[in-house]
Amino acid sequence: QNRRPIIAGNWKLNPATISEAENLLKLISGNFKNHRTLDGPEIVVFPPFPYLTTAINELDGTGIKVGAQNVGLETKGAFTGEVAASMISSLGASYVMLGHSERRTLYKESDSDINAKVHLCMEQPNLNVILCVGETEEEYESGLLKSVVDLQLKKGLMGLKKEDLKRIVVAYEPVWAIGTGKVATSEQAQSAHIAVRGTLSDLFGVEYANEVKIQYGGSVSPASIDELMQMPDVDGALVGGASLTADSFTRIVDGGT
Ligand code: G3H
Repeated sequence: QNRRPIIAGNWKLNPATISEAENLLKLISGNFKNHRTLDGPEIVVFPPFPYLTTAINELDGTGIKVGAQNVGLETKGAFTGEVAASMISSLGASYVMLGHSERRTLYKESDSDINAKVHLCMEQPNLNVILCVGETEEEYESGLLKSVVDLQLKKGLMGLKKEDLKRIVVAYEPVWAIGTGKVATSEQAQSAHIAVRGTLSDLFGVEYANEVKIQYGGSVSPASIDELMQMPDVDGALVGGASLTADSFTRIVDGGT
């Protein structure tokens, strides 16, 4: 299968100030200004909401896309503190990340919330979604990986039209590997990705399952990317901590080429 890899940097709640964000963006932009992205992987960065416009401006001309880490459940009106999908889209962002395990656990987002948000993003013609799925350590130890991601995918993608499915990227992130330094082995990642692809094949057909990109996330670093990317079903990475310095993010992208 000829799936163009996609490497994404999830900045989470970092950095603390706009000037630090600008510095990081300038360094990333400098590293990629020679259009290395054309034949390499698709690259996306996910800064916090207040930095989105700055990121879009700073990365202009590099081919690097910008995404939001979440979106609200409403479209407009009296919902203080919320952010709508139309707002993200109208800034020129092209991705929204949904279903990250930190959103699921810390902010109690359910699969049906996530599904509603996926639909809101699909109403915006220019938005793509990275849907994150993954099991906890306890679930992994109990052999529940397949059934957990099965349900997250089934519920998260419920009711999507065929043409919308093309705008979905799946990120497999075992919760036990996130921010722990305990990266899954390439064999573990490959076998989980086969499970994810299998579920997508059951849900939407084998042709779709062969086209959809599945990223691995969880303690990815320049040291682990090469081996992960050698796996036939690993189509990229969703990088947290290591995306916060331009040097390590660039090395990961280069490793993902
Ligand atoms: O979205 C990214 C993941 O949560 C991975 O984070 O690379 O810091 O483990 P990490």
